[in-house]
Amino acid sequence: MADEHGGELDTVMQESRLFPPPAEFSAGARIKSLEEYQQLWDRAAADPPKFWADIAQEELHWFEPFTEALRWNEPVAEWFVGGKTNACYNCVDKHVAEGRGDRVAIVWEGEPGDERTLTYAELQTEVSKCANALKSLGIGLGDVVSIYMPMTPELAIAMLACARIGAVHSVIFAGFSGEAIADRNNDAGAKLVITADGGWRRGKVLPLKETVDEALAKSPTVEHCLVLKRAGDAPNMQEGRDVWWHDVVDTASDECPAAPLDSETPLFILYTSGSTGKPKGIKHTSAGYTLYAKKTFEWVFDHRDDDVFWCTADCGWITGHSYVVYGPLAAGAKVLMYEGAPDHPAGDRFWDIVERRKVTVFYTAPTAIRAFIKWGDELVDKHDLSSLRILGTVGEGINPEAWMWYHKKVGGERCPIVDTWWQTETGGIMMSPLPGAIPTKPGSCTKPLPGVVPAIVDDHGQPVHPGHGGWLTITQPWPGMLRGIWGDMQRYQDVYWSRIPGKYLAGDNARCDQDGYYWIMGRIDDVLNVSGHRLSTIEIESALVSHPAVAEAAAVGRPHDLKGEAVAVFITLKDVDPSEELREELKHHVRKEIGALAQPEDIRFTGSLPKTRSGKIMRRLLKDIAAGREAVGDTTTLEDYTVLTRLRSGKE
Ligand code: WT7
Repeated sequence: MADEHGGELDTVMQESRLFPPPAEFSAGARIKSLEEYQQLWDRAAADPPKFWADIAQEELHWFEPFTEALRWNEPVAEWFVGGKTNACYNCVDKHVAEGRGDRVAIVWEGEPGDERTLTYAELQTEVSKCANALKSLGIGLGDVVSIYMPMTPELAIAMLACARIGAVHSVIFAGFSGEAIADRNNDAGAKLVITADGGWRRGKVLPLKETVDEALAKSPTVEHCLVLKRAGDAPNMQEGRDVWWHDVVDTASDECPAAPLDSETPLFILYTSGSTGKPKGIKHTSAGYTLYAKKTFEWVFDHRDDDVFWCTADCGWITGHSYVVYGPLAAGAKVLMYEGAPDHPAGDRFWDIVERRKVTVFYTAPTAIRAFIKWGDELVDKHDLSSLRILGTVGEGINPEAWMWYHKKVGGERCPIVDTWWQTETGGIMMSPLPGAIPTKPGSCTKPLPGVVPAIVDDHGQPVHPGHGGWLTITQPWPGMLRGIWGDMQRYQDVYWSRIPGKYLAGDNARCDQDGYYWIMGRIDDVLNVSGHRLSTIEIESALVSHPAVAEAAAVGRPHDLKGEAVAVFITLKDVDPSEELREELKHHVRKEIGALAQPEDIRFTGSLPKTRSGKIMRRLLKDIAAGREAVGDTTTLEDYTVLTRLRSGKE
């Protein structure tokens, strides 16, 4: 059936609201108008390598200049060939060398309320000590270091210390199991694991070292474990293998110049779960990634010296790598870092932080925004959020009604919202409004950043009809792109560069409207096919979320004799009891909002939806449940396994 449409998707969603940037905002912005953006984009697209080379020359520190912008041997990219630089130098030493050492780099708040502030000069000292400690543990150029830590300044310090000496960090989100740590240690051949005795989450201590111990029993390549004392627990310390941070880092020399490294020296690996199969170790390298994180940070968040930037992501995700650590620090920004949960001690912890710390730019995920909506407006209303000037979202599509809530309640109708589309693989933001230049439409990530050239194609690689959905591809290499899958270049080629020759396949569906705005329609694998019409998940979900009773919705296809697939939806409600009437009302609501085709056949109310630990709804599992099958795929990334058990038993 798909072939009739050549891989195209039907669109059913209508969204006509448009929010131009406030004139006052644009006047003070880096990029002030749509025309200015368009000129920059056109100039970049005419010759991307030249465009990036000019920026790289000007904005990165080079121990030795590069001689060639891009060497492209599809799918292998080498950016800034012949140059020597260092990501850590660019994030830390450069600012100190340029007389900005006294500026605050990191303001940190622990969940229990403890705090710490580090200037760029202090960060330089700490990072140098840590780098020397790593060396004393036998770590050098090219060695892999797994980092399994709570969101503390030491997590950023550890990442930067690796970068400083050319070691490759592999940060593992501190919610993953011992099994997951062992898998990652073994896949990457990690020599060292850095962890903490514990980290605070909802008033409790997560016993991180204990979990690492389980992993180390199955990680033959790991020689040492470096342990930060954070929670005051007394973990098992294995003689000869485990060492305390305060013993080896605090006592180390603070003299450790950043190593001049080839541009393409691996900077980090970050594992991301494929929908099936083992996690992929996404590889990023020094110069291109750092430049891309810095520049996209400055453009999208319109960075100014007096900003207090808060990205709520954990460093265990790419968002934390690019927009807690590398991007903002390379730009010399003041970064806020918070250790714990958004609902500890109460559901207004984030707003309390924004108010007290005068946060100006706030970047979070749709899953968090939907939780805030569910927790009630009072929690937001009681705080003064007038310091905010830009809001951002990332990770999933944002339903237009959640966007509107964010705009009104958090942004006071004054802050542009940047809905940023990108991936672990892209290293940094690819599509997003520039807040002073591009009018926003709720639910659209608007336009590609300068130097990013997308194309939407059908499954034969042909451009789809204007306005239709299809496969999102990127047609030109960019500096932040992944350089491969660790240890598996064939898989890299197969996943991203084989189905559509000559283009990077992102794995998402998207459409581009008559104004050149992009709408991400969900993962390719999640498309529903109802009576030969290919429908995207987000459109049906957004229609449901626009109903006042609905907090979250997930739409999947389930087998149907006549239609091929029928729409099945899973819904969590706000403060309303489920009922047969409500079920009928919601069906009717979808029919009215987007048409009969998308009307759900089945509606199931549930207390919560299965999500990954980074907050994405796992539709794949719901699809199995809707079809009455055992969930077959990988469930190791599930945040809460009991959600699945409850859904299967139908007891909700
Ligand atoms: C996938 C990448 C990028 C950092 C966090 C996630 C989805 C991401 C958006 C957005 C619609 C989005 C896509 C993408 N996604 N941002 N603004 N609108 N969808 O990184 O875990 O590598 O996931 O997240 O499906 O491919 P990731």
